[in-house]
Amino acid sequence: MNILGIETSCDETAAAVVKDGTKILSNVIASSSEMHAKTGGIMPEQAARAQIQSIIPVIEKAIADSLQSSAFSNKKAVGQRQLAVDHVDAIAVTAGGPGLIGSMLVGVETAKTLSYLWKKPIVPVVHLFAHVYANWLTENSKPKFPAIVLTVSGGHSDILLMSKHGKFEWIGGTRDDAAGETFDKCARLLGLPYPGGPSIAKEAARFQLPSSSSPLKLFPRPMIDSDNFDFSFSGLKTSVLNRLTDNPVNKSSLPKYAAEIQEAIVDSLVAKSVRAIEKYKPISFLLAGGVAANNRLREKLRTAIQNQKDLEFHVPPIPLCTDNATFIASYAFFNYTPMLWNSIRAITDPFEAAVFYGNIKG
Ligand code: KG4
Ligand code: ZN
Repeated sequence: MNILGIETSCDETAAAVVKDGTKILSNVIASSSEMHAKTGGIMPEQAARAQIQSIIPVIEKAIADSLQSSAFSNKKAVGQRQLAVDHVDAIAVTAGGPGLIGSMLVGVETAKTLSYLWKKPIVPVVHLFAHVYANWLTENSKPKFPAIVLTVSGGHSDILLMSKHGKFEWIGGTRDDAAGETFDKCARLLGLPYPGGPSIAKEAARFQLPSSSSPLKLFPRPMIDSDNFDFSFSGLKTSVLNRLTDNPVNKSSLPKYAAEIQEAIVDSLVAKSVRAIEKYKPISFLLAGGVAANNRLREKLRTAIQNQKDLEFHVPPIPLCTDNATFIASYAFFNYTPMLWNSIRAITDPFEAAVFYGNIKG
């Protein structure tokens, strides 16, 4: 089954065709992040306008690319509208957040229109849970259940217990800022460009890590020892701000500051993931979300859980961690619940959306 995924929750306009939830036939992304880099953060109104400009060309390219790479392939076929339509069995769209309402509406209304015109089933997808399906788009063996999921992004940071496809139980998450948001805000304080995660990771990689006997401890790790699966990152941001007021950043101190910030965020995420694994004893541990692209997080998690008996560790390929439409299509394949096009609406709160679309426990 070929599913056309459409994702427009934030500043990426993305479309992809995925076969049977695991094989990527095409993956097209247009991003307005360069525009937001100038202002140091996303301007929702501008992001929505950029979505409108990109959505049709991005979908057309995703379909054309998938025709080229699939068994349908035949040069003449590309661009023939009827064949393009035949080639798509269903449409999946991000209809649940987190996301910006103006951006999300562009994808949702486009998908509903295509569903109506092409007479194709349409599956609404909640972005927060869909990120996890980047772990099904690798060549590796597929994750087994039950799984503990750490999903960390610009708009969310949660630990979920996944008992089967589409069934998620929220067991913990951030009390304030998301991990990606913290990277973005701290990068701004350091004068680094948006998005802040990759900027901080790049600077941190230039810092020579001290020996394990003298770890990086400049900034606090709020809640790291609390007996739950929650995080708090807003105190870290304040602490960075106070430190920079007394000791302004310069060229030589920048890599150390970046490494210290990255380490504080990563340590909190790792500690609560380990706590969740010890309590729930899952078969798999899955990392997901844009922050999953962070190499230090991948490395520290792998080290921290390597001694857990019979635990499979899954991480998505780095390019599939950040927003794209492949995991939207994959989610829809494994949780195939089409709805009438006119009953689908954009809901920015992921948990409200999950209740509306019926895929969260508790
Ligand atoms: O999942 P995503 O693309 O969008 C949301 O759903 O929010 O995640 C974007 C977030 C941004 O905050 C960005 O700074 C962060 O992911 N990010 C990273 C890295 N790459 C992206 N954070 C840390 N290290 C990275 N390499
Ligand atoms: Zn995302």
